[in-house]
Amino acid sequence: MDKRIYLCLAHMSGKEQDFIREAFDTNWVVPLGPNVNAFEDDLKHFVGQNKEVVALSAGTAAIHLGLIQLGVSAGDEVICQSFTFCASANPVAYQGATPVFIDSEEDTWNMDPALLEEAIKDRIAKTGKKPKAILPVHLYGMPARIDEICAIAAKYDIPVLEDAAEALGSEFKGQKCGTFGTFGVLSFNGNKMITTSGGGALIVPDEAAKKQTMFYATQAREPFPHYQHEKIGYNYRMSNICAGIGRGQMTVLEDHIAHHRHVHDLYAKAFEGVEGITLKSNPDDRFNANYWLSTILIDPEKTGTNYDEVRVQLDAKGIETRPLWKPMHLQPVYVNNPCYVNGVSERLFNMGLCIPAGPWVTDEDVAYIVEQIKACLKK
Ligand SMILES: Cc1ncc(COP(=O)(O)O)c(C=O)c1O
Repeated sequence: MDKRIYLCLAHMSGKEQDFIREAFDTNWVVPLGPNVNAFEDDLKHFVGQNKEVVALSAGTAAIHLGLIQLGVSAGDEVICQSFTFCASANPVAYQGATPVFIDSEEDTWNMDPALLEEAIKDRIAKTGKKPKAILPVHLYGMPARIDEICAIAAKYDIPVLEDAAEALGSEFKGQKCGTFGTFGVLSFNGNKMITTSGGGALIVPDEAAKKQTMFYATQAREPFPHYQHEKIGYNYRMSNICAGIGRGQMTVLEDHIAHHRHVHDLYAKAFEGVEGITLKSNPDDRFNANYWLSTILIDPEKTGTNYDEVRVQLDAKGIETRPLWKPMHLQPVYVNNPCYVNGVSERLFNMGLCIPAGPWVTDEDVAYIVEQIKACLKK
């Protein structure tokens, strides 16, 4: 094949340029305006549950503003998922607080509820105070066991901030990921389910929380004619130009999700009966992943190869893949943080690959990718 197949390339509807042109024509070339309002409205209707949505400059900014509004500050601990991208945990460190890492369970690869409860009890025993927040992730778009996580959070009266950056459109029991916790986080970075080139959003419980989020996102300016500041704020609002891209993308969001699921289904059929290759799929029908990226585990014993050899071979054949996230408790920057581990995320990291799933991946591409993966197997 002469073209290169990427994991998840941005894909435009064509309407993005109209919204951007409108912004230029009306001179709304600022980090607020009609596109921002309309994009927030589109997202609000998409996620449902009577939530409000604030469009921000990045998913990372959304996590940061969620933590600030949950009162996370220096000396606090926040329970994080270890198996994730660093942006889930870094904003905890921005606040001078400590991420405490929890390993994954096998079914969803997300935060293990049993370890979560063990960690809460242990942190209270060791530090004399409760963790300030729980930050589970719906990794690769697979919903976490969010009902169990929320039940434990409620039992100990600790708020949940859901990282749904990779899970726009994923559902647990028919409810959209990002709407279970006090706050939920979305990302529209270049490779996500939809993109605004860069951007994110915070899903918030009500209008008051929306106002407060916008206040922190615009340098915490108090309502005076002059510039009065009583709190530390941030420059985190989404630009009206980026929101124009977002509005265009909302017109194809359902198509994108359907396509990612279709690609996953094709992989599922093609890998049936292939010894040593396991495609990650919904554990049962309560889970409805968006399959942002399809992921496979490669068993070295059964295949005679490993994820890294396969990655290098596929790269030579024009196929982009990526190792699964390296768990945070194994990252040098977090190596001294408290962690509660069971070996699951480390094992996944040593066996897994993300394979292409984006809107540009065709049925023929999937067949070619599977053929090339099979060609790597030595047993
Ligand atoms: C799990 C997870 N959390 C947070 C983020 C941060 O989002 P952003 O890149 O929009 O800051 C990302 C993606 O980049 C992510 O994959």
